[in-house]
Amino acid sequence: MLRKIALASLCFLALTHSQQVGKEVTETHPRLPFQKCTRSGCTNVSNGQVVLDANWRWLHVTDGFTNCYTGNSWNTSVCSSGTQCAQRCALEGANYQKTYGITTSGNALTIKFLTKDSQTNVGGRVYLMDSDTRYHMFQLLNQEFTFDVDVSKIPCGINGALYFIQMDADGGMSKHSGNKAGAKYGTGYCDSQCPRDMKFISGEGNAQGWTPSPSDPNAGTGTYGACCAEMDIWEANSMSSAYTPHPCRTPNDGGYYRCTGQECNQPRYEGVCDPDGCDYNPFRQGVRDFYGPGKTIDTNKKITVVTQFITDNNSSSGTLVEIRRVWVQDGRVIQNPPTNFPGLMEPYDSLTNQFCDDQKRIFEDNPSFQRNGGMAAMGRSLAKGHVLALSIWNDHTANMLWLDSSYPVDADPNKPGIARGECPTTGGKPKDTEQNHPDAQVIFSNIRYGDIGTTYTAG
Ligand SMILES: *[C@@H]1O[C@H](CO)[C@@H](O)[C@H](O)[C@H]1NC(C)=O
Ligand SMILES: *[C@@H]1O[C@H](CO)[C@@H](O)[C@H](O)[C@H]1NC(C)=O
Ligand SMILES: *[C@@H]1O[C@H](CO)[C@@H](O)[C@H](O)[C@H]1NC(C)=O
Ligand SMILES: *[C@@H]1O[C@H](CO)[C@@H](O)[C@H](O)[C@H]1NC(C)=O
Repeated sequence: MLRKIALASLCFLALTHSQQVGKEVTETHPRLPFQKCTRSGCTNVSNGQVVLDANWRWLHVTDGFTNCYTGNSWNTSVCSSGTQCAQRCALEGANYQKTYGITTSGNALTIKFLTKDSQTNVGGRVYLMDSDTRYHMFQLLNQEFTFDVDVSKIPCGINGALYFIQMDADGGMSKHSGNKAGAKYGTGYCDSQCPRDMKFISGEGNAQGWTPSPSDPNAGTGTYGACCAEMDIWEANSMSSAYTPHPCRTPNDGGYYRCTGQECNQPRYEGVCDPDGCDYNPFRQGVRDFYGPGKTIDTNKKITVVTQFITDNNSSSGTLVEIRRVWVQDGRVIQNPPTNFPGLMEPYDSLTNQFCDDQKRIFEDNPSFQRNGGMAAMGRSLAKGHVLALSIWNDHTANMLWLDSSYPVDADPNKPGIARGECPTTGGKPKDTEQNHPDAQVIFSNIRYGDIGTTYTAG
């Protein structure tokens, strides 16, 4: 729910990147094959590859190696306005393995949590592409999306996430003349938290009003935020998992939008996107023996996760009415468990508007999902095409307690909706996760999507 405000852990080097392109390191995207399925079988989408988000990259002046951005601050003697920063600063190519701990092998992607090179990189985020310069655009209505994941090395407080966002296929290059780097350099990120830690938004530096983070040596926030609708397929560690749609009221049914002030959810819930979403976390739904080490879904082993986007007339042009989850492990298909606590109208096992209404009422959560248009709005956004993001991160805002512990920490953990997992309420502090779990990592593999029922089998 709270999520990526904190994706701030973008601790990468103190380096920076800009919207120009550096010439020091050639940008070579790791290959990651993925598949499209129909009733007649699955075929490889050609040219599958991943690209590192621009925010993690070294940002230096276009005509030299002076940093445009160091640690959590812009170098104001290089540039002070958004346009100047876009003109004078260049985003550098990435050494994926050495600097960022990102590798691919066959159809598997590994993202390490911590990588020590000349500096320490924390977390990482990549996008799936089908060419060197364009993100793959997924059309998910009346389709299902499936992947395998190994969360066995993700402890409390760290999140290995796989999600869709309504980014532009070219990273915003054609819309924003200041952006000369584009998708090839991982530009154009946005999500439903309207993150203000992005160094560039809409082809301009976010340098104006930039305030270094008090807790994160590698992040800060600017005047602007980058909003768009988001469909979280998977936010998880070895203890808890959730899937969560977050619609927005930005132009183009949830498309990329540069917000300021209240629009950026300051205060929370007053902006143009739904920051909480409507989540299905089996533990939070009262099913405590379902997901975790040694449980029904055993997080010590590889898991196959299927997500189905059901429309009202079983057609890709219909209205999104339900998002279903199916699990496969050890050759066994396992249905998502029905909710298990008193007061619900029925034991729901998937996300629908009725489930969301009922859950928000009983949990006494803010109905921001409904106010932002609910399932139908999420569906209109998905119909525009979404980009797949894969990441690992820790949480400088809420220590990931909203995912894996009891939250808020001062609420009665026996009240429905408060307990989300078995992690301690004192855990998840970014410093602790970085000190105690330098070997944390996530492995995503065998990504495929297509007609419902065609991406997985038992056996
Ligand atoms: C699809 O890609 C996988 C992984 O690269 C490869 O092993 C397989 O042979 C490919 N299949 C086809 C039909 O090209
Ligand atoms: C900031 O830029 C100036 C040149 O404009 C340079 O001399 C200085 O070293 C830079 N500061 C940092 C911290 O990189
Ligand atoms: C859509 O497909 C499901 C499953 O095959 C079926 O139960 C349902 O009746 C269909 N709905 C419509 C409106 O055709
Ligand atoms: C599904 O619903 C949409 C929107 O009402 C409509 O445009 C489309 O023709 C319908 N498709 C089918 C197969 O009924």
